[in-house]
Amino acid sequence: MLKPKQPHQSEVTMTEMVLPNDTNTLNNLMGGRLLHWMDICAAISAQKHSNRIVVTASVDNVSFTEPIRLGNIVTMRAKVTRAFNSSMEVFLEVWAEDIPAGQRVSTNRAFYTFVAVDQNGRPIEVPALQPETDEEKELHLSALRRRQLRLVLAGRMSPADATELKALFQVA
Ligand SMILES: CC(C)(COP(=O)(O)OP(=O)(O)OC[C@H]1O[C@@H](n2cnc3c(N)ncnc32)[C@H](O)[C@@H]1OP(=O)(O)O)[C@@H](O)C(=O)NCCC(=O)NCCS
Repeated sequence: MLKPKQPHQSEVTMTEMVLPNDTNTLNNLMGGRLLHWMDICAAISAQKHSNRIVVTASVDNVSFTEPIRLGNIVTMRAKVTRAFNSSMEVFLEVWAEDIPAGQRVSTNRAFYTFVAVDQNGRPIEVPALQPETDEEKELHLSALRRRQLRLVLAGRMSPADATELKALFQVA
């Protein structure tokens, strides 16, 4: 039995500056570049929780509502919300900052799932996660629902077994 860990032990903050090679022809950050940075930040978080090599199993929907401009500073913060058997859900938030203008806006949020693997790429057990703050407890609870939704969509779980999801639609 692995010793449980707290969310703060997996917290990772990563900062990047948007340079010309990161942008599209409108001088905004390319979505693919942002996804690349987000994947790295979230993977480090999952590695810190599990002390293992991890692979990305899935990324929930990411929307791009605010353009991030050339020269902006992009800050990403990731933390594990819940650990299952070999998989971990990581919550990641992104902010863009225009330092000369003194402006900082929240631009993206995403949930990633990583699987810890052994040297042969086989899934391996990870420590449980013990949430502490109210926000961590809420994310921990809702992680079960998100896991069921993504496993149903991936064809890895029968909708009939998605008890947490079904409970959402049951009228008392
Ligand atoms: C992720 C991977 C290791 C799962 O292997 P597998 O043989 O299907 O293993 P299992 O069926 O035992 O599942 C292992 C875990 O992955 C989770 N998982 C598998 N597919 C998933 C998906 N699409 N979404 C979320 N979780 C998923 C399972 O729920 C399980 O979690 P648990 O152990 O916490 O219960 C394997 O599919 C893989 O190596 N994929 C490629 C990963 C990769 O290269 N990522 C980068 C993409 S370029």
